[in-house]
Amino acid sequence: MDYLKIHSSKSLSGTIAISGAKNASLPLIAMTILAENSVKIKNLPNVVDIKTLLKLLSKLGANCQFSTNSVVVDTSTINETKATYDIVKTMRASILVLGPILARFGHCEVSLPGGCAIGQRPIDLHLKALEQMGAKINIKAGYIEASTPNGLVGCDIIFDKVTVTGTANIVMAAALAKGITTITNAAREPEVVQLCDVLAQSGVVINGIGTAILEIHGTNTKLLNIKEFDVIPDRIEAGTYLCAGAITKSELTLTNVEPKHLGAVISKLEEMGNTFKITKDAITIYPAKKIKPIKITTQEYPAFPTDMQAQFLALATQADGVSIIEEKLFENRFMHVSELQRMGADITLNGHTATVNGKTKLSGTDVMATDLRASSALVLAGLVATKETNIHRIYHLDRGYDSLESKFKNVGAKIQRLKE
Ligand code: UD1
Repeated sequence: MDYLKIHSSKSLSGTIAISGAKNASLPLIAMTILAENSVKIKNLPNVVDIKTLLKLLSKLGANCQFSTNSVVVDTSTINETKATYDIVKTMRASILVLGPILARFGHCEVSLPGGCAIGQRPIDLHLKALEQMGAKINIKAGYIEASTPNGLVGCDIIFDKVTVTGTANIVMAAALAKGITTITNAAREPEVVQLCDVLAQSGVVINGIGTAILEIHGTNTKLLNIKEFDVIPDRIEAGTYLCAGAITKSELTLTNVEPKHLGAVISKLEEMGNTFKITKDAITIYPAKKIKPIKITTQEYPAFPTDMQAQFLALATQADGVSIIEEKLFENRFMHVSELQRMGADITLNGHTATVNGKTKLSGTDVMATDLRASSALVLAGLVATKETNIHRIYHLDRGYDSLESKFKNVGAKIQRLKE
C-alpha cells in the first residue's frame, strides 16, 4: 500500500491547474446510459472513483475508451442490468446507475452500498421517488431490485432533504419517463446543474435549472443524442489548494477554476484574513499574515460545503483564537479530528460541533486517512507540521484528487509517495 511522506513546506509558490470535478463526472458518466450514441466526455479527472464507475459500466457491457483526461462511452452494447456488490461496495456513488438503467431497460438491480465512514448515508429518498414514478422496488439479499411494469411516469416529487446524488438519479430517470416530473427541494450544486445543462442540450426540456424546483419533461423512452462536452472544474479540489495557500501563508494561483462555484469558500477564507485576485477562470490567493479564527456551518450549496469542512478544520488549528465548525450534513464526519489531535491540535468535539483552539504547533507523526476529504486535511496539516508526517491509507485520496503529490511538488511542497 502507498503512503505519503510530507516534510514541513512553509513557502509554496506557483500555479496549480485544477482538474475536472469528480462529483460532476460521476453522474455525467451514468447519464451516458440514456444516450443512443457514443458520448465523449472531456476534462475528466484521473482519479480512482471515475475508473470504478467506468469499470461498472464495462461490466454491464458498455464500451468505455478511457484516455488520460477523456472517455468515450458507448452504452448501446449494455446487456446486463445488475450492479454487483464487488464494485458498489468500493464506491457508494455507483447508485447513480439505478435511475438511468431503470429508465432505459425497465429493470435494474444494484447492490445496497452498505456502511460508510462519514455516516449512515441512506438512499431511501432515491427509492421513494422512483416508486412514485411507478417503479416496483424490493430489497432482497442485499440488493435493490427495481422494475417498471408500466414504464416510468412523471409525477411531483418532494425531497424531505436536499440530496445531491438523489436529485441526479431522479433527473436521469425523469429524462426518459413519460410526462413531466417536478422535483421540489432539488439539490442546486453545480454538479447537478451541469447534469441538467447537458441533458437540456441533448433535447430534454428542463425548467428551473439551478433552482430548488426542477421540472423535467421526459422523452417517453426516446434515447438522447448527447454531444461531447467538458466537465466543470472541481471546486473542492480548488478549495483544498486555496487552503494550502492559506495554511502555508503562500501566494498560489489556481487555473481552470470556476470562481462562481467557490463563493462560500472564498468568503470564509476572506474572513480569515486572506485576499484574492479573481478573473474569469483563475484565482490567486494572497495569504493572511495572521490567520483569524472562523465560524463555519456546513450546508447545501450555495452555502459552505461539507466536502471542505475537514480542510478548514486543519486551517483553523493555525488561526489565532477559537474557531467553531459545525457539521450539519453527515453525523460522523469528524474522523480527521483524532488524527489532527495526534499531531498536537487542540480540538474539542461536542456532537456535531468542533471547537478548535488555535494556534497550535503541529508535529508530524504517522496518521491515517479515514475518508477522502479527511485525507486532504492531514496533507494540509503535514505541510506546516514540524518533522515529517506519514499519511497512511491514501487510497482514500486517490479516489478523488488527481495527481495530488505532483501538483503539490510543482509548487514546492516536500511530498513523496512511498510504499509501506
Ligand atoms: C454528495 C457528494 C458528496 C457530498 C455530499 C453532500 C457525490 C458523488 N458525492 O454525496 O461528496 O459530501 O453530496 O454535499 O456527489 N440522505 C438521506 N436519504 C437519501 C439520500 C440522502 O437521508 O436517500 C441524507 C444523507 O444522509 C445526508 C444528506 O441527505 O445527510 C445529504 O446527502 P446527499 O446529498 O445525498 O449526499 P451524496 O449525494 O451521497
